[in-house]
Amino acid sequence: MQHYELFIDGESREATDGEWFPTDNPYLGTPWAQIAKGTSQDVDDAVRAADRALRTGPWAELTASARGALLRRLGDTVTAHARDLAELEVRDNGKLFTEMHGQVAYLAEWFHYYGGLADKIEGSVPPLDKKGYFAYTRKEPVGVVAVITPWNSPLLLLAWKIAPALAAGCTVVVKPSEFTSASTLVLARLFHEAGLPPGVLNVVTGFGQDVGAALVEHPLVRKVSFTGSDATGRRINESAARDFKHVSLELGGKSPNIVFADADLEAAVNGAVSGIFAATGQTCIAGSRLLVQTGVHDEVVGRLVELAGTARMGDPMDEATQVGPITTPAQYAKVLDYIGIARREGARLALGGRAAARGGWFVEPTVFTGVHSSMRIAQEEVFGPVLAVIPFEDEDEAVEIADDSRYGLGAGVWTSDIGRAFRMADLIRSGTVWVNTYRAVSYLTPFGGFKDSGLGRENGIAAVAAYLEDKSVWINTGAPTGNPFVLR
Ligand code: NAI
Ligand code: MG
Repeated sequence: MQHYELFIDGESREATDGEWFPTDNPYLGTPWAQIAKGTSQDVDDAVRAADRALRTGPWAELTASARGALLRRLGDTVTAHARDLAELEVRDNGKLFTEMHGQVAYLAEWFHYYGGLADKIEGSVPPLDKKGYFAYTRKEPVGVVAVITPWNSPLLLLAWKIAPALAAGCTVVVKPSEFTSASTLVLARLFHEAGLPPGVLNVVTGFGQDVGAALVEHPLVRKVSFTGSDATGRRINESAARDFKHVSLELGGKSPNIVFADADLEAAVNGAVSGIFAATGQTCIAGSRLLVQTGVHDEVVGRLVELAGTARMGDPMDEATQVGPITTPAQYAKVLDYIGIARREGARLALGGRAAARGGWFVEPTVFTGVHSSMRIAQEEVFGPVLAVIPFEDEDEAVEIADDSRYGLGAGVWTSDIGRAFRMADLIRSGTVWVNTYRAVSYLTPFGGFKDSGLGRENGIAAVAAYLEDKSVWINTGAPTGNPFVLR
């Protein structure tokens, strides 16, 4: 079986204790590789290497333009290895190769885009209100960044964090999910070979409660950027707050996909399927609540059940497969558990509802109708192929149900009324609203959540600011020495 070692200070090495843990292939339901089980000592080594690289050596000495050129080269490296990286990701997390190949190839754009921004990070010269002084501002890297990623889109979510962090001049220690560590280790090594200096990007694999927690607590870490569950996000936020570390948190969702009677129903049903069954529902932006206006409710449900009912489950490497496995056994159990909960709450099962008899962890695309917003299936994140259909009468009720959630990550609105589209986009409390589309993302548009869906935004120009500190510098150009006991 293949072994994947830690990547610290430009070198691959075993964990301090020499221990390993297996990682599974979700399609087969069996382990395919061993991953080094990092310790708090490994975390300390990695953070110290990152701290050194931040202050001295080739990375610290690079001009911003050279840093940008290096980032663009990293983007080209991703492109050159997109196929291998996608295959590796599919083996480890079970997502479809057809989606992963496109996704990995696309993530090169993050390095090109933030590479382009690296030498456009500028301080300013405020028009001072005081005579005899000159002041200017600098934007400096915030410091060593801890990046903690989940298993659903390991490389994409990694790119969202490290591309702006590196553009800002930071150094990084990554703790990937224990379920999908391999691709991050391989990417770090490829980046090193492409010229990223030692210590700039380190990877410590292992479990959340030891490696993850030790990384967040490390005194030399100045910023934590996390994507994952809201429960872990809360714990990380509390821990980081003790040392006033900066945090960016991208957490869960229970996103409403809202279909009005005046919508193009074929497009809406396609969007509903894409929202909840793509990636087997294992995405933070899953459109897991389908709100349907009563006049078209039965027609929409009928078409939806027909389309989702024909979805082909199978080998995620096979280009004909549409629904792959659930990534982890725990997640598989959780999804089946929620199907039981929805049934007991009185929701009506319109499609699926069963585990599929295969080697790996498959669950049928599942649709519940007759859901009330107060039910757990309408409130809690399942993170699987389970859709809750909720009827509504009018715009006001649609907004009310949409916002009856502690989350606010994404929302879809399906309508042919342009005025209604704008009204809904204004009123819905979520970080993204898609009108007549769903699940579109780009490096250009801010991404993140309202309410319990997180803190801060990734992507777009402003994301670089999350990895920078402002500094004001004052210079006396001729102000007289004054009374030392009053503010100047
Ligand atoms: P998780 O949030 O516990 O794990 C995400 C990352 O955080 C992993 O790298 C993990 O090792 C790390 N981690 C865990 N505990 C930590 C701690 N105390 N300190 C620092 N790092 C820690 O998510 P998990 O257990 O993989 O999945 C559980 C649920 O989370 C899923 O059922 C799903 O509902 C949700 N989830 C949401 C995601 C999103 O994109 N918003 C992604 C993955 C899971
Ligand atoms: Mg795995």
